[in-house]
Order: sequence, then structure tokens, then C-alpha cells
Amino acid sequence: MIELVDCAEEHRWLLHRWRSSPEVARQMLDDGGISRTVHNAWYTRLLQDGDRHGWVVTDDGRPVGACFLSAINATDRRAYFGMYVAEPESRGRGVGRAALRLLCDRAFTEHGLHKLCCQVLASNEVAVQLYRREGFTHEGTLREHVWRDEQWVDVHQMALFARSWSQSRAALTDGAADHRTEGAPG
Ligand SMILES: CC(C)(COP(=O)(O)OP(=O)(O)OC[C@H]1O[C@@H](n2cnc3c(N)ncnc32)[C@H](O)[C@@H]1OP(=O)(O)O)[C@@H](O)C(=O)NCCC(=O)NCCS
Repeated sequence: MIELVDCAEEHRWLLHRWRSSPEVARQMLDDGGISRTVHNAWYTRLLQDGDRHGWVVTDDGRPVGACFLSAINATDRRAYFGMYVAEPESRGRGVGRAALRLLCDRAFTEHGLHKLCCQVLASNEVAVQLYRREGFTHEGTLREHVWRDEQWVDVHQMALFARSWSQSRAALTDGAADHRTEGAPG
């Protein structure tokens, strides 16, 4: 079963290891390696600041990835999210989709957001497709925004609104619930 566990002190250096892995780092907008010092300061803010929240994704209790809300704006009820499934053997098995659904649930119910945004490299076809299938729409493209793998890469801005989430959630409840969040084997 896929679950989200609040990021805690015990996860500080696990997330550094994950964030530093090439498969995750190359999909981040700010690739270039992340030093222990930078990570340490970032993680302390993650645990302390009210405008962000982090969760470790667990699969039958085993930590396999992480997801985050950042720039949580209480006035505009808007935030950005980021996520990764860090353990390679856990990718492509529905973990990312299940974690994203749980993250949306937290964002729209617990945090009461109106709009959930993300920025994703246009070259990251797996993530772009996943977000589209979960109802995120394309709002615009930042052209040649990052230098990656010896070329300029566009960045897509995508968003999901609470009303769309409520509709798709109702459809899931009506019979198409994701089995990965209900305890069935992957
Ligand atoms: C993007 C990511 C979170 C997706 O999680 P995942 O657990 O691998 O994805 P899922 O198994 O839930 O599959 C989601 C969709 O992607 C497809 N997919 C997954 N891995 C794929 C691959 N290697 N090639 C092609 N399609 C793939 C699945 O078939 C599924 O598509 P569907 O909607 O047609 O069924 C994960 O691959 C990851 O962490 N990648 C590295 C970091 C990253 O890109 N983070 C996002 C930055 S914005």
C-alpha cells in the first residue's frame, strides 16, 4: 500500500541521497548537484516553515520517494508541488500515480488549496503524461528555460484546480479507485 508520511528528522539524509541520484537530479529544474550544506538548510526550512510541507512516499512501509508542497499561499490558496520516486525498482509500477493522488488529496482537503501548480521539464515525458492523465492542464511554456544534457530545454507550467480534483475523486469513489492505495499488490 502506498502512503505518505510526514518528512521528519530521520529522513534528512535519505532525501539528500535521493535528491543527489542522477535519475532524480536530472529532472529537477535546479540540477547541478546539491551540496550537503544546501540540502541541510533546505531541509530545516522544510520542517519548520509554514509555506511548505514534505512527505516521504512509502510502499508497504518502505520509503521509496518523496513529494512536496512549496510556496503555499494562504491568500490565493495556491501552491507548487514536486515529487520523485527515487528507488529505481519502484518506478513504473504505479507508485508515482498513487503518491500524486494522495498528494492532491492533502493539497485540496487538508491545505484547502484552490490551485495546485507544477513546473516540469518538457523533456520529462513520463511526468508530463502522468500529470495530464491526473487532470493537470498545460498553462504555458517557459521557452529554453534550463540548460540540460548540452541543450536548452523548455519548462511546462501545469495546474490542477480543486473543482477538477473533486470531480475526478468522485469518479474514483464511484468504482475506479486506484488499487495501489487500497492495499492490493502492485
Ligand atoms: C515521474 C515519476 C514520479 C513517475 O512515477 P512512476 O511511479 O515511475 O510512474 P507510474 O508507475 O505511476 O506511471 C505513471 C505513468 O507513466 C508511465 N511510465 C512510467 N515509467 C515509464 C517509463 N520509463 N517510460 C514510459 N512510460 C512510463 C506509466 O506507464 C504510466 O502511464 P499511463 O498513465 O499510461 O498508465 C517517476 O518516474 C520519477 O520519480 N522520475 C524521476 C524524477 C521525476 O521525474 N520527478 C518529477 C519531476 S516534475
